[in-house]
Amino acid sequence: MKKVLLDVKGLKQYFNVGRKDEVKAVDDITFHIYEGETFGLVGESGSGKSTTGRTIIRLNTPSGGEITFDGKDVMKLKGRDALKQFRREVQMIYQDPYASLNPRMKVRDIIAEGIDINNLAASVEERNKMVDDLLRTVGLNPSHGTRYPHEFSGGQRQRIGIARALAVNPKFIICDEPISALDVSIQAQVVNLLQDLQKEKNLTYLFIAHDLSMVKHISDRIGVMHHGKLLEMGTSDEIYHFGVHPYTESLLSAIPLPDPDYERTRKRIKYQPEPEDGKERKMHEIAEGHFVYASEDEAKIFAEKLAKKKQDANK
Ligand SMILES: Nc1ncnc2c1ncn2[C@@H]1O[C@H](COP(=O)(O)OP(=O)(O)OP(=O)(O)O)[C@@H](O)[C@H]1O
Ligand SMILES: [Mg+2]
Repeated sequence: MKKVLLDVKGLKQYFNVGRKDEVKAVDDITFHIYEGETFGLVGESGSGKSTTGRTIIRLNTPSGGEITFDGKDVMKLKGRDALKQFRREVQMIYQDPYASLNPRMKVRDIIAEGIDINNLAASVEERNKMVDDLLRTVGLNPSHGTRYPHEFSGGQRQRIGIARALAVNPKFIICDEPISALDVSIQAQVVNLLQDLQKEKNLTYLFIAHDLSMVKHISDRIGVMHHGKLLEMGTSDEIYHFGVHPYTESLLSAIPLPDPDYERTRKRIKYQPEPEDGKERKMHEIAEGHFVYASEDEAKIFAEKLAKKKQDANK
């Protein structure tokens, strides 16, 4: 039996409520993440991916919904200690490895911040040893600890960010576009590091990205987000090969393939959201573990479309 580590139900995060510029950044989304798996969250800019991550770690107070982490109701964590423990178990890695590291701090002290806050080291020697080990774990050299962030490349800075997250022995890491700002040649190295660490430490990831090609390789399951809604969710293979929501199809059509024949005929599908028709829409399970956001009528059409796609693939 797989254990659900994070359970998100009906999560809503609205900003500027009641004002003209009200934003429903996250609008009633439901998903769960199993222990040890990677759940990919994809969608275009502004779809609410980062807000979802920030609300899960309680940097925002949700407008509605429930978040359960490791059996505990995150909204009901009371007192400094409970919140501190939660913030230790759940870490975040950011998109911009330049902005997310304090330029005035030595790498050693950046990495040790969580160790200090949580009193995880009994002595200075132990603290130094922990930092040295962490630097090695992420493929850096212990001697790098005395340097400042600006002395490192983008990929190395992201490794520092990963070491900082690992320092407190988290169970769950929210990776918010951790490779988007890196050179393509460096991206695979950082992804490989994250995957090795996951196996070694049984980590669970929420992996946020813009495009499907990036999350496909790293994720076990994928959620496709648009305007604050989850529109489709399923295993990576299912979404990649048999995504049926028009928005998912538009993301899929944007992925270039190293096949000249395919590229010559590849048509980018542009997603036109359905007009507001007042129909009630929710997630429907159209195949085992494959969910799509739809009205009752649309769900039937999507289910037929899925069956046809699978049939065609078998030909
Ligand atoms: N603190 C805030 N106050 C007001 N609006 C906000 C706030 N944070 C986010 N938003 C808005 O919520 C929406 C979703 O933003 P979010 O950053 O979650 O998107 P994203 O999917 O992470 O986009 P990107 O891919 O560009 O990082 C956007 O319209 C954004 O302007
Ligand atoms: Mg974001």
